[in-house]
Amino acid sequence: MRKKIVAGNWKMYKNLAETEMFLVDLKKQVFPENVVVMIAPSFTNLNQAFKSLREHPVTVVAQNMHQNNEGAFTGEISANMLKSVGVNTVVLGHSERRAYFKESSAILAEKVNTALENEMTVIFCIGEELDDRKKGSHFELIKAQLSEGLFHVSNDAWENIIIAYEPVWAIGTGETASPEQAQEMHKFIRKTVAENYPEEIANKVSILYGGSVKPDNASEIFGQADVDGGLIGGASLQVDSFMKIVNSF
Ligand code: 13P
Repeated sequence: MRKKIVAGNWKMYKNLAETEMFLVDLKKQVFPENVVVMIAPSFTNLNQAFKSLREHPVTVVAQNMHQNNEGAFTGEISANMLKSVGVNTVVLGHSERRAYFKESSAILAEKVNTALENEMTVIFCIGEELDDRKKGSHFELIKAQLSEGLFHVSNDAWENIIIAYEPVWAIGTGETASPEQAQEMHKFIRKTVAENYPEEIANKVSILYGGSVKPDNASEIFGQADVDGGLIGGASLQVDSFMKIVNSF
């Protein structure tokens, strides 16, 4: 059985007071036992979020980290720093990091290695732009993102890898991939993993969908055979809408 996962990516939203308010409310909620729930606040709130959720099943995740273990990299955060505040999971390769911060596949491959060396779990994001889809090159692009950023890892590493497919044209736009489009791509991703690794690895890896997932479309998307959950942006910022999505399996 693959893990079902709903992860909230807060991006650059919520200061400390807002984070604390969210957590007070979140801790009052009843969580389904079959879903792994994660939230990814900003770096400044990770310590507080971890402390607040210490006795709680919700996992605190970082949105990014640097590929070097330490060094003169002003403004950056290392794996060790994350681990020292209780964070063992990191989102890598989000399309906003790729687009606005010029994170290449080569850099992402290094980040993946650093995370794995530090015994962290990676949520590795991939996704095509609208132009790629219009040109019909979206499958090719996804394959390239996987092989350049992820397919150098060992078989054993897959225990600690989650893939998130987020079509860039569906992020924050209100435009969702149809359930059929999501399933088609998730199936393709699983097949591509199976072409490079033993089939059981491909069958076991959780593949999350991200891009305008809302309470009213989550269950249809999560109902697809190869969709194992979601990486949620905007709708993860309110406890109410986030919980509706968590309960959409
Ligand atoms: P939205 O849910 O706001 O479209 O964001 C998706 C996303 O980028 C999650 O990482």
